[in-house]
Amino acid sequence: MFNIIIRDTYEELSAEAFKPVKEVLKKEHPVLGLATGSSPVGLYKEMIRDHKENGTSYQNVVTFNLDEYVGIPQNHAQSYYTFMHENLFNYIDCPESHIHVPEGFRKDEEQACVDYENALKQYSVDIQVLGIGRDGHIAFNEPGTPFTSETHLMDLTEETRTDNARFFDGDINQVPKKAITQGLASIMRAKKIILIATGENKAQAVYDMIKGPKSTNCPASILQDHADVRVYLDKAAASKLD
Ligand code: F6R
Repeated sequence: MFNIIIRDTYEELSAEAFKPVKEVLKKEHPVLGLATGSSPVGLYKEMIRDHKENGTSYQNVVTFNLDEYVGIPQNHAQSYYTFMHENLFNYIDCPESHIHVPEGFRKDEEQACVDYENALKQYSVDIQVLGIGRDGHIAFNEPGTPFTSETHLMDLTEETRTDNARFFDGDINQVPKKAITQGLASIMRAKKIILIATGENKAQAVYDMIKGPKSTNCPASILQDHADVRVYLDKAAASKLD
């Protein structure tokens, strides 16, 4: 079931998205599912602000990220491991041993997927943060990915690599061709999901996710089957909805 929250500014949207996260942080052992990309950066700023101002502790928090590029070192400037540290982990007190990001740097990529899914299954994610791609992807599950998928290797589409080239000196040739990603079934196990999307270029994907047929053409449409999804939109991203 979708609960749709529309706000004028990205700051307001991020503050709204932080509310359910803050609720989860009151638990004794919270498990957070985290995403990279531009969409959740405002939420992470809220988490950092709250940690500084209110002393909210992450000592007992365990985190699992959605995805990671394959074939670049963990400490590469554009790895999702680095992104998460620069945008969140370096500013809160979550122990490094509680942080999980798929190990795209490992030689045995298939085994890295199996190990990640097994680690994830030891926990129950209380809240999963998501963005959405223009083609309706969530995590790196591109159109055509089966709804039953668990953590797996994904060939990135030209569209996604073009979108992400902005982080690689605008050069698509530097963007990795593969990623390790949680599958759609892995994501669906989370108890609560919050999805953040802004801008007109997300409007069609948002519409297809909520109103379109449930189809692997729009991987995010699987969320129609989830009991608790909150979608945080600005007016542009919501513009195709009624
Ligand atoms: C990132 C991820 C991706 C992004 C999506 C939107 O971990 O899983 O699915 O959420 O590509 O990216 P942004 O937020 O940069 O528009």
